[in-house]
Amino acid sequence: MSLLIKNGTIVTASDIYNGDIYIEKGKISEIGLEISKEADEIVDVKGKYVIPGGVDVHTHFNLDVGIAIANDDFYTGTLAAACGGTTTIVDHMGFGPKGCNLKHQVDIYHKYAEDNAVIDYSFHGVIQHINQDILEEMKSIVEDEGISSFKAYLTYDYKIDDEDMVKIFKRLRELGGITTVHCENHGSIKYLKDKYVKEGLKSSIYHYLSRPEESEGEAVNRMINIAKISGNSPLYIVHLSTKLGLDYIKMARERGQKIYAETCPQYLILDKEKYELDNNEGLKYIMSPPLRERHNCNELWKGINEGYIQTVATDHCPFSFSKDKQLGKDDFTKCPNGAPGVEERIPLIFSEGVMKGNISINKFVEVCSTNPAKIFGLYPKKGTIQVGSDGDLVVIDPNKEVILTKDKLHSNVDYTAYEGIKVKGYPIITISNGEIIYNEGKFKGKKGRGRFIKRNRANLI
Ligand code: URP
Ligand code: ZN
Ligand code: ZN
Repeated sequence: MSLLIKNGTIVTASDIYNGDIYIEKGKISEIGLEISKEADEIVDVKGKYVIPGGVDVHTHFNLDVGIAIANDDFYTGTLAAACGGTTTIVDHMGFGPKGCNLKHQVDIYHKYAEDNAVIDYSFHGVIQHINQDILEEMKSIVEDEGISSFKAYLTYDYKIDDEDMVKIFKRLRELGGITTVHCENHGSIKYLKDKYVKEGLKSSIYHYLSRPEESEGEAVNRMINIAKISGNSPLYIVHLSTKLGLDYIKMARERGQKIYAETCPQYLILDKEKYELDNNEGLKYIMSPPLRERHNCNELWKGINEGYIQTVATDHCPFSFSKDKQLGKDDFTKCPNGAPGVEERIPLIFSEGVMKGNISINKFVEVCSTNPAKIFGLYPKKGTIQVGSDGDLVVIDPNKEVILTKDKLHSNVDYTAYEGIKVKGYPIITISNGEIIYNEGKFKGKKGRGRFIKRNRANLI
């Protein structure tokens, strides 16, 4: 099977030029001006951008949080991703039964994804507890399973304490892996939640008020210092939402620490006003960390531009508004946390970022595709356009305007957090391993065509 993409404006993290791309047996085999070879399929994309397929390193498909299950599985979730210009996802595995080993969840997630995913995928390991067995087992998860990153949570049911964080940082550094951390200070959040509930203050805005900016700032700063104490280990901070956290990251990177930060479209584009919407609509935005005051959005864009934030992922975690989110209608603490966004990421960051002049088109590719691939050991197979890389490409029409509404999107959930937002520039073709799987508004791929990718060690930038 061969595919020739003609006359595109090819964009990578470092370059922009006009050219043709030839894909053979799923891989890019030639890039040049006016390639005239025969091909099974030829697509002319004059006037359009051709970017490396999006790499979203933070999704939660099939996530079971006890009170609800995320509405997307690996079929509907990856299909939505593909329709929005993402060709690889790295999913955060959910917690397993108390005391289970690391492989337990790996096996479960392979079953979830096999025969379902429509694009290539990997998983982040999840750490529920630490003991000698778990530390030993990390080696086989990194080296045999090809899962070179793990997430630790500082809040929720399986929060990890500082002593265990030292052990995790040290061990993963030794193995060439990377520790990703959900940074929120548990104790102060618990105190505020309990206080508000006792006072009968239980609407969505109290979710926001119980997780102040300092609860993220404290945890970010603590993890930075613990990573340093743990032999100057690399740390990847997921879903950064505040300027305060960003300030600590800047300080640490300027001191030469290997600190990486991810933010998400919701923290760049939306703000805490959403919690005060009528008809309990604030429930749609109950996520942790919460949306913030508007000035944080501007600071996060700046942080991307200045290179302190390396990736934009989604934290796609879809719970239905009509059913799941209603669990929190009388008490925000009962609402499942999370919001969808896997399909909206590329259009939103292109439109709000590139078209509105917040970031360059190269920076857009860097944070949505290249850096996530590098940090999580997928590069240069994924995340760039070069000979030998997988034939994962997305064509963006810079003139296509779309008003985002639920009915145009493909996630199995019943709302979009971005309803009514007008975007300029939209992915019109998605190519995965040399196969056009999305075109003319339609998904054309086969269920289960996606492959598990064994990841290499982190390529720390
Ligand atoms: O509210 C969120 N973000 N839910 C998903 C789990 C997580 O913390 O990433
Ligand atoms: Zn998290
Ligand atoms: Zn998450």
